[in-house]
Amino acid sequence: MRKWKMPGTDWWISGIVMGTGNFCQHTEAEALRLMDHFAEHDGNLLDTANSYCKQRPGDQNIAEQIVGRWLRESAAAKDMLVSTKGGHTLSADFAPAHMDRNEIEAELDLSLSTLGRETIDLYYLHRDDPSQPVEALLEILRDFRRQGKIRYFGLSNWSTDRIHEAINLEKQASDRGLVAVQNRWSLVRYNDQAANDPHLVAMDWQSWDLFRQEQLTVMPYSSLGKGYFSKYLQNTCEMTEKLRRYYENDLNKKRAEALRQIHKETGYSISQLVLAWLMHQPLPVYPVAAFRRSDQLHDAVGAAAINLSYEMMERLGAGEPW
Ligand SMILES: NC(=O)c1ccc[n+]([C@@H]2O[C@H](COP(=O)([O-])OP(=O)(O)OC[C@H]3O[C@@H](n4cnc5c(N)ncnc54)[C@H](OP(=O)(O)O)[C@@H]3O)[C@@H](O)[C@H]2O)c1
Repeated sequence: MRKWKMPGTDWWISGIVMGTGNFCQHTEAEALRLMDHFAEHDGNLLDTANSYCKQRPGDQNIAEQIVGRWLRESAAAKDMLVSTKGGHTLSADFAPAHMDRNEIEAELDLSLSTLGRETIDLYYLHRDDPSQPVEALLEILRDFRRQGKIRYFGLSNWSTDRIHEAINLEKQASDRGLVAVQNRWSLVRYNDQAANDPHLVAMDWQSWDLFRQEQLTVMPYSSLGKGYFSKYLQNTCEMTEKLRRYYENDLNKKRAEALRQIHKETGYSISQLVLAWLMHQPLPVYPVAAFRRSDQLHDAVGAAAINLSYEMMERLGAGEPW
């Protein structure tokens, strides 16, 4: 898979970042095999989190444990970068995050020992805590950097205004640590009103314009829209009521029609086109995608080799560039 230089770092990152949030839906052997396949395709960034695969508040960091096992046992692990996240306490009523420095540091320490690494390559605050000043939260992350526990940091599910403030504060810092944002974004436009959790933040025009101007890297999650367009266009029985609630809207109907035509003209798969549209945005974008089966992974990595024309990008966007 082709790699691109990531701004603000000395890394060349593969076009697709592999998500591990669904690892509890696999057997461990399947999850380990998926990471093998990802590495065989030259994928070099795994995205995980302290909270992944926790179904109940008392559960352990199951996804990180599986990633940690792979990192310890695979010969390919030395070339694999890892992003993980802290600062997201699960709550049944989706209460706003309350970030506490000591709790985040305890989570980070657990991530380090579970993953078997001395430094986390990219560490995200998984949520925002708007009750605290941006500067106070950045200072926690900067301190982790000074201690050598993390290399760079990112912000996930932060609003445009708060990210803008973080960018401006970071510009004044002598050594910039903020290198990425992880919010929801896909060619498949999500119906915001369908969200259970009101603290998840999706790309919108305002944030797209900010990230474009700042050339801040975005590693969008749910970048395949959970495979919605493939299921919609192939009319498969995998199309569920939940997916319809999330993604059925007029813009997606237009985008699906453009996908159908461009798929016919080029032979690229629907998922490849969905991911390639993100990779062709006028800002650095590394989609974070998850896979249930190896054939899905083998298909998706092909997106990094596609050249989409401006005209195809326009048709796929169906009137909206983001
Ligand atoms: N920061 C955050 O708050 C946050 C939130 C959510 C996710 N994430 C990260 O983002 C990752 C991905 O997000 P996600 O799982 O929500 O969504 P996603 O990547 O959009 O969707 C994954 C699903 O897409 C389908 N798929 C994958 N490859 C395909 C292919 N080649 N052809 C057709 N369908 C394909 C599969 O669906 P089926 O299983 O139905 O086959 C797969 O389970 C997570 O693992 C996690 O690392 C972060």
